[in-house]
Amino acid sequence: MMQNLINLIDKKLDEYMPIIYPEEIFKAMKYTVMLPGKRLRPVMCLETTRMLGGDMEKAFPAACAIEMLHAQSLIHDDLPCMDNDDFRRGKPSNHKVFGEANAVLAGDALLTFAPQLIIEKSKLSAEITLKLVHEFTKWGGAYALIAGQVVDIESEGGKYIKSPEATLNFIHMNKTAALFRLAMRTGAIIANVSSEEFDVIDDFAQKFGLAFQIYDDIMDEISTFEELGKTVGKDKNSEKLTYVSLYGLDSAKNKFNSLINDCYGIIARYDSLIIESILNKLKERLSGV
Ligand code: IPE
Ligand code: IPE
Ligand code: MG
Ligand code: MG
Ligand code: MG
Repeated sequence: MMQNLINLIDKKLDEYMPIIYPEEIFKAMKYTVMLPGKRLRPVMCLETTRMLGGDMEKAFPAACAIEMLHAQSLIHDDLPCMDNDDFRRGKPSNHKVFGEANAVLAGDALLTFAPQLIIEKSKLSAEITLKLVHEFTKWGGAYALIAGQVVDIESEGGKYIKSPEATLNFIHMNKTAALFRLAMRTGAIIANVSSEEFDVIDDFAQKFGLAFQIYDDIMDEISTFEELGKTVGKDKNSEKLTYVSLYGLDSAKNKFNSLINDCYGIIARYDSLIIESILNKLKERLSGV
C-alpha cells in the first residue's frame, strides 16, 4: 500500500521535472530528487489529505514540491561548507557528480521550482493555493528549516549561546520537524479541516518530526553505510549537538520511544495504516538496539 503511493509519487516527480536547456541544472535538480529516498514527507502529506476525507489527487503537486524542498535541503546539507558528505541515498552526493557550483544552484533552483509547481499544477482554489505557498515559504525558509541548519552548524564543537538543551531543541524542531509539519499541515489544508483538527495534526507532526531526528541521530551512531546510504559516524566527528551527544544513546532511545508512543495515541483516532506502518518501522528498527 505504502509502496503503491511511493510509486505514484516517483511517477509524478519524474513528470514534473523535464530535462531542458541548460540541461546540466535540470539534471542536477532531478538527480537528488529521483534517488530512492524513503519519501516520508510526500507520503505523509498525501495520506493526511486522504485520512481527513480530502481528494488525494489534488495533493500531488504540493506533496512533490515538499519532496523537492527536502532534496534541496539534502543537497546543501552535504556540501563541503556544511556537513561535507560525499554520499546521499546510496550514491555520490550532488556536488560530487555536478560540482559545487551546480549543486548550490540546483538547491536554489529547487527552492523556487517547487512553489512554482504548487501554483501551476494544483487544481485548487486561489485561496487554498495561497495558503499552501505561504506554508511552504514559512517552513522552508529563515523562520524554520534554514534557522535550524544555521544553529546546527553553529553548534559544532560546542559553540552556542543558549543552553545546550534549548539549542538542541531549536535545531531539531527547525531543521527537521518543520518539514513534517509542512507536509501534514499541507495535507490538512487541502482536506479543508476545522482548526481543532488542524491543531491535532500539527501536534502529531511536531512530535513525529522530533522523534524522526532523534532516530536519525541514533542511526548516525549505530547504523551502517549500507543501511543508510550516507556516511555514518559523522555527527561525532563533527562534534555536532545531537540527542546522542547530549543525553547518551539510552536516553535518546527513551525520548524517541515516548514521542512515538504519543504519536500512536494521536493517530489512533484516524484510520491510517500507512502512518501506523511508518511508526512501526521506526520503532522496530530501534527495539533491539
Ligand atoms: C534525512 O531525511 C534528513 C533528516 C531530516 C534526518 P530522510 O531520512 O527522510 O532522507 P531520505 O529522504 O530517506 O533520503
Ligand atoms: C538533517 O540533518 C536536516 C537536514 C538535512 C535539513 P542531518 O545533517 O543530520 O541529516 P543527514 O544525517 O545528513 O541526512
Ligand atoms: Mg546537517
Ligand atoms: Mg548531514
Ligand atoms: Mg543526520
